[in-house]
Amino acid sequence: MRVAVVWSSPNTDGLTASAKDSFVRGLADAGVQTEEIHLNRKKLEHCRACGNGWGTCNKTGSCVIRDDFEEIYRTLREADGIVWISAVYWSDMTECFKAFFDRLRRCDAAKNHSLAEKRCVLVACAGGTGRGTLECLTQLERGLTHMGMRAYDRISVGRYNREYIVPALEQAGVTYAKALENGFDMYY
Ligand SMILES: Cc1cc2nc3c(=O)[nH]c(=O)nc-3n(C[C@H](O)[C@H](O)[C@H](O)COP(=O)(O)O)c2cc1C
Repeated sequence: MRVAVVWSSPNTDGLTASAKDSFVRGLADAGVQTEEIHLNRKKLEHCRACGNGWGTCNKTGSCVIRDDFEEIYRTLREADGIVWISAVYWSDMTECFKAFFDRLRRCDAAKNHSLAEKRCVLVACAGGTGRGTLECLTQLERGLTHMGMRAYDRISVGRYNREYIVPALEQAGVTYAKALENGFDMYY
């Protein structure tokens, strides 16, 4: 069983990283092989909306921009499950996360459908007032739905709940691993 953990925050020792580490510990406890993808460390341009706006990706299934996108896309295709973790900026995913996610949706939803039916967990980490986690999770799930992926859970992490939620994410990792293994499924 292989799980890709896609995460974004510029801080490698902040709230988002702690949430990610805890989830990954749970996956490891359950014997899952994990590949972490730290989007802020990758070379990722934003979508150019080329052509008349529909791009060429809706026919070719690949992006014209040559950066780290295709390699990450391949890793996601090969994964049994994907965990998406973002810091909350402006009640949304980070700009870096959005740049990747937009391009992924264009390639996968229109042409490849290679991520359809992947079972995911979504985590939003808000270090400010805590407002915006739900909007961030909603945006993430909307994109996943366009690609035919499914969310097992949507987890909101903030300064108020971090003491009990961050440790609980370890158990969330174990539960997710078991669900993937058992083939637990759900349809929208
Ligand atoms: C540009 C920007 C926008 C932000 N917007 C929000 C927000 O809408 N709600 C919130 O609770 N926190 C917000 N924050 C705080 C981040 O969510 C907080 O820094 C987040 O936990 C990142 O965690 P980390 O940097 O420790 O990983 C924002 C931070 C930045 C830099």
